[in-house]
This record gives sequence, structure tokens and C-alpha cells, in this order.
Amino acid sequence: MRLNGINVSFLLSLLISVCLATAQKERCYDTGNFTTNSTYGRNRDQILASFPANVSSNGGFFTATLGQDSNKVYALGLCRGDSSSDICYSCINSSMHKLIASCPNQKEALSWGADPPCIVRYADRLIFEVLDLEPTDAGYNTGDVPSANLTQFDLVWESLMDSVVKKASTGSSTLKYATGEADVTTFLKIYALMQCTPDLSQENCDSCLRQSAIYYQGCCHGKQGGYVQKPNCLFRWDLYPFYVSNASTSATAPSLSPPPATASPPPPFSTNTTIKRGDGGIASQTLAAIFVPIVVIFIVAVAVIAVALLLKRRKKTRQLQDVNGKLFLDFNLFVGSLAS
Ligand SMILES: *[C@@H]1O[C@H](CO)[C@@H](O)[C@H](O)[C@H]1NC(C)=O
Ligand SMILES: *[C@@H]1O[C@H](CO)[C@@H](O)[C@H](O)[C@H]1NC(C)=O
Ligand SMILES: *[C@@H]1O[C@H](CO)[C@@H](O)[C@H](O)[C@H]1NC(C)=O
Ligand SMILES: *[C@@H]1O[C@H](CO)[C@@H](O)[C@H](O)[C@H]1NC(C)=O
Ligand SMILES: *[C@@H]1O[C@H](CO)[C@@H](O)[C@H](O)[C@H]1NC(C)=O
Ligand SMILES: *[C@@H]1O[C@H](CO)[C@@H](O)[C@H](O)[C@H]1NC(C)=O
Ligand SMILES: *[C@@H]1O[C@H](CO)[C@@H](O)[C@H](O)[C@H]1NC(C)=O
Repeated sequence: MRLNGINVSFLLSLLISVCLATAQKERCYDTGNFTTNSTYGRNRDQILASFPANVSSNGGFFTATLGQDSNKVYALGLCRGDSSSDICYSCINSSMHKLIASCPNQKEALSWGADPPCIVRYADRLIFEVLDLEPTDAGYNTGDVPSANLTQFDLVWESLMDSVVKKASTGSSTLKYATGEADVTTFLKIYALMQCTPDLSQENCDSCLRQSAIYYQGCCHGKQGGYVQKPNCLFRWDLYPFYVSNASTSATAPSLSPPPATASPPPPFSTNTTIKRGDGGIASQTLAAIFVPIVVIFIVAVAVIAVALLLKRRKKTRQLQDVNGKLFLDFNLFVGSLAS
């Protein structure tokens, strides 16, 4: 069971990686083009060329401007809060290259990078301390929430998202990032990650993340994980720990309900089956006559239960493999992800 759980989580993380790596993560704005060899184009290329080094050496967030008047380029880079500086560097580097290839002469464009994501944006207008809610990039795991009670799952989910939004948006002017986890049952846990570009105010960050969670519920409610990305914020949740934990950025989810009673101990055997000895004058043959069938029945029952459990486990394993196979097939349909 546990092994199966780990395998499924691992598979899901692989699937998500495949998705994030293959889906188009660049968006070219249609707000104007520059011509090849123009000053604006040279400024853009120059500012982006130093971005991998500048974003990663600056704690994962960096803004810069270059040029004057209509040739002025505003650029912004953000790495996910749990990225090491090496991961940050390579994410910004590959995003920047893909962005220039996808949007060769657009005056404004953005990329959400690969897995883990990072944001690279540039524009011919002020984009710092400004909340932009569109465009949106979203995707989900094709499996359904494995919860018997979706109402209860949603309550835990909403409460966790609320606490992670609060923790992330009340971050500093250099980092607005939080993760959090909450138990639905003993075996079902929700993991969430939220982050804003830290130039946003607390109110704007709160709004960006809440709208992302609402967007997720609109597109993908009932699925067992997903992400929503906007120009100013990142949101992802799943049923396995997909981020690098750090106690100082982890939100504590309020415990909603009393610990769920999923693992209730088996009912104790009745103690009234003991047979009184001696004073009743029961002969040893009688005792044997009572005891032997009980022992035989007990052994047979244990054997039957053991066989039943074995068969059930084998069946379960086979079902899981079927589901995994289907997941993989479905996944190819899903790779395009949702976008607006
Ligand atoms: C910019 O160029 C792209 C092709 O590279 C074109 O599709 C788009 O319409 C142009 N936008 C404007 C505003 O001229
Ligand atoms: C851009 O500049 C290069 C060298 O500076 C030149 O070879 C090329 O023809 C120019 N391209 C355009 C479209 O002007
Ligand atoms: C970015 O880093 C380079 C060195 O890699 C440095 O020369 C440059 O000044 C930095 N850019 C900004 C805008 O600070
Ligand atoms: C940056 O990305 C480009 C294109 O993907 C790649 O060719 C290059 O080796 C990368 N540079 C570093 C230092 O990783
Ligand atoms: C589902 O969970 C909710 C909230 O915990 C509870 O009120 C409801 O009775 C549960 N429904 C079932 C069918 O267990
Ligand atoms: C955790 O986060 C804090 C504050 O952002 C940082 O100083 C610390 O180095 C981080 N620890 C790890 C293990 O990443
Ligand atoms: C066990 O038997 C005693 C009397 O022999 C009785 O008082 C008690 O209620 C019984 N308990 C159960 C669980 O049946």
C-alpha cells in the first residue's frame, strides 16, 4: 500500500514535469512590435542576457530597466521560492532563450518557465508594482480526488488555501512565498504552494492568489492537483510534497475538525467466550468437544481471511496499474493545458 502510494506520487510528479516541460509557457502580447536591429530590440536582448546571473544572485527576484523614452525596456525575473540559485539560473536562462525565440519582435512578452516554474517578463511599459491578472496558464492532474467525502475535502482545501494566501501575501518586499500542508484523513494530505512577485502590495498579492484559487476551482474542481499561473503569481497544489520544504516559509493550517476517525481500531474480541473450568463439573471430553471445533473453525476462518486479503491486494494492484496506464494516455490529451 505504502509502496504503491510512493510509486503513484512519483509517477504523478513525472507526469507533471512532462506537462510543464512540453506545454507552451511563453505568451507574446499583441501590443506592438519592434523591428529587427532597433534600439528597443537591442535593449531587450542586452537586459535579458544578464538576467540568469542577476536574478539568481539576487535571491530569486530581480527587476531592471534599460534605455530611454520609447526605447525603455522594463524587465522582471522571479524564481520559485524553493529553487536553489543553480536551479534558478537554469530556469531563467532557458525561459529567456525560449522567450526570445517565441516572441522575436514583440514589445511585451512573458514566460512561466519549466518545472519548477520561474517568471521572466519584459515590456515597454512600467510593470513593477502593477497587478496583471491576465494571461493565465493552468493545468491539472487528470485523476480525481480520492476522497470519499468531497465536501469534507473541499473544506480542508479551502481552509489551507486561505492560510497559505495569507502567509504568502504578508511576506517581505523581497519574498512573498509560502507553502502549507493539511490532513484530510490519515492517508490523504494536501500540499500547496503560493508565490507573488514581491513588488506587489499585500492587497494585490492576496487578490492575485485568491483569483488563482478561484480559477482553479472553476476549471478543475475535483481533480487531484493542478496549477494556475498569472503574470504576478504562482499557485500549485497536489497530494504529494512537490516542493522543498522550509519551516520559515511554511504556513500552519488551522485544524478544522477533530482528527478524522479513519483508522479506528478493530472491535475487541468479546471476552465472554471464556469457558469456566472445574466447578461446573464439565468433563474433559466435553471441554475437548467444545474446544476442538472452535479451534478448527478459528484456523479455517484465519485461512479464509488470509486468502481473501491476498486476492484483494492482487486485484487492487492490478487496478492501480490500469489507472496509471490510463492516466498516461489521458495525459497526452491534457498536455496543451488550459489557457486564457
Ligand atoms: C506583431 O508581429 C506578429 C508576427 O510576428 C503579428 O502576428 C502581429 O500581428 C504583430 N502585431 C502588431 C501589433 O503589429
Ligand atoms: C541587422 O544588423 C546586422 C549587423 O549589424 C546586419 O547584418 C543585418 O542585415 C541587419 N538586419 C536588418 C533587418 O536590418
Ligand atoms: C546584471 O549583472 C551584470 C553582471 O552579470 C552587471 O554588469 C549588471 O549591471 C547587472 N544589471 C543590473 C541592471 O544591475
Ligand atoms: C542557457 O540556455 C541555452 C539554451 O537553452 C543553452 O544553450 C546554454 O548552454 C545555457 N547556458 C547555461 C550556462 O546553462
Ligand atoms: C462529509 O463531510 C461533511 C463535513 O465534514 C459532513 O458534514 C458530512 O456529514 C459528511 N458526509 C458524509 C456522507 O460522510
Ligand atoms: C529557509 O528560508 C529562510 C528565509 O527565507 C532562509 O534564510 C533559509 O536559508 C531557508 N532554509 C533552507 C534550508 O532553505
Ligand atoms: C460478559 O458477561 C458478563 C456476565 O458474565 C456480563 O455482565 C457482561 O455484560 C458481558 N459483557 C459483554 C460484552 O457481553
